[in-house]
Amino acid sequence: MTCGKNRTDPIEADPAAIADALGTWYAANARALPWRADPTPYRVLLSELMLQQTRVETVLPYFARFVRRWPTLADLAAADEVEVLEEWAGLGYYSRARNLHRCARAAARGLPPTAAELALLPGIGPYTAGAIASIAFGEAAALVDGNVERLLSRLDGRDLDPRSKEGKRALWARAGELQRSRGALRPGDLNQALMEMGATVCVPRKPRCHTCPLAGPCAARASGTPERWPTPTRKAPVAAIRGAAGVFETAAGRLLGRRVAGGLLGGLWEPIRVEIGELTEPGPALVAGFAALGLTVRLGTRRPDVVHVFTHRRLTCAVFEVAQLVGEPVPAPPYEEVAFRGDLRGLSTLARKILEA
Ligand code: ADE
Repeated sequence: MTCGKNRTDPIEADPAAIADALGTWYAANARALPWRADPTPYRVLLSELMLQQTRVETVLPYFARFVRRWPTLADLAAADEVEVLEEWAGLGYYSRARNLHRCARAAARGLPPTAAELALLPGIGPYTAGAIASIAFGEAAALVDGNVERLLSRLDGRDLDPRSKEGKRALWARAGELQRSRGALRPGDLNQALMEMGATVCVPRKPRCHTCPLAGPCAARASGTPERWPTPTRKAPVAAIRGAAGVFETAAGRLLGRRVAGGLLGGLWEPIRVEIGELTEPGPALVAGFAALGLTVRLGTRRPDVVHVFTHRRLTCAVFEVAQLVGEPVPAPPYEEVAFRGDLRGLSTLARKILEA
C-alpha cells in the first residue's frame, strides 16, 4: 500500500501562491486591449458579450465601431434594436446583440455594481456578472469561463465535467477561493489573468507549459499529458440540413429580402429562403416558397451552393437567381424590398454568402 499522493492525485496547490504567480504573470503579459485601458461598466459589458464564443482579434473592430456610434450605455439604450443588430452583423450569435440592447434599456442610467444584481439583468449570466462586477466595480466576484475551466481542471488534475452540477460547483468554488486569497491583486486582474492564461498559455492543444508560472504546482503538467484535461464532453451532433434561396432582383434593380422574425437570425435581413428535405429538389421547392408569398417566379441561373454552420446545424443551401416575376406585385410584410447592393451591413453572414455566391 502506498501512502501520500502519487503524481496524478489532485493537488490543491496553495491558493495565495497561485494568485500571486498569476498577478505577476498578468502584469508582464496582459494584452493591451481597449476595454482594459478604460474599463467602464458599459465597455466591460460590451466587450464581455462580444467575447463570448468569439476571438479577441474578431471582436476588436466591432468594439471600436460600437463605442464610436454609441459612446454610453444610455446612447445604446436609445438606439433601435435593428440598428444594433446591423452593427453586430457578422459577429454571429445574434441573441447576444438583442440581450445587450435589452440590458442597456433595463439599466440605461447605469449598471448595478454587484454580481448578484447584475445577474438579474437580461442576458447576463453568472460569468458576465462576475466579469463586470470584478473588472469594472472591483467586487471580489469569481468567474469561470471555458478558459478558466481548463486551467483550473489542469492545475488540480481533477476529472471534473464542467457541464455537470458538481463540476460547476467545484470550479466556481476554486475560483472563489483564489479570489479570497488574492492579496493586493485587484479582483478584475485576477479574473483576467486566469482567462488570459487560459487563452494564451494553457491552451486546449499543446499547452505552453514551459512559459507557465503555474507549471510547478500543476498536476496536469506533472502527469506528462496536460492535454488530457478537462474531461472531454460529448458535443451535440451537428445536423445536416438543406435549403434553397432566391436572389430576386426587382424591376427597379433592388433585391427582395425579408427581415427574419425570431430564431437565431431574428431582426436581420435575408433573401427569400426555404428549408427543404433530404430528397427534395431545391428549385421547385423555392418556386413553391415564393408562391406561398403570393409571388409567381421563374428560376434563372443556379449559383454555387452555400454552406453555413449554425451552432448545431450545417446548412447546404442551393442559390438561384430568380429572374422573372409574373403577375402579382411584391406583397406587404413580412417581405420587404431592400437595397442590398453595395451595402451588406445588417445582413447575417449567411445572407452575405448567398448574395455573394
Ligand atoms: N475572455 C473574455 N473576457 C476576457 C477578458 N476580460 N480577458 C481575457 N480574456 C477574456
